[in-house]
Amino acid sequence: MGEFVRACALSEVPEPGTFGVELNGTPLVLVRSEGEVYALDEFCTHEEVSLVDGEVYDHTVECWLHGSCFDVRSGKPTGPPATKPLATYQVRIDGGDVYVAVPE
Ligand code: FES
Repeated sequence: MGEFVRACALSEVPEPGTFGVELNGTPLVLVRSEGEVYALDEFCTHEEVSLVDGEVYDHTVECWLHGSCFDVRSGKPTGPPATKPLATYQVRIDGGDVYVAVPE
């Protein structure tokens, strides 16, 4: 696990919705669903499409291109065609800001 780095203001992440950030050179998608914020690798493991443009519902982010679904809590695919999980990162909310533990 890396150090916590400020990603954005909590108010920048729509509920439900996504916000894209790059931290220490790692492109991430922040997902806000069911009152929590999650951080995952930005790109769908099927064909490298940005999940910042995905749809969010019920702890799920759905890729807009072919409909792969990922559980934002674990990064695991819950709907095809993707079979590989997304990496997930620890999130901390502090003082109205979102911090993510990213590799250095
Ligand atoms: S690129 Fe995401 S489902 Fe195909």
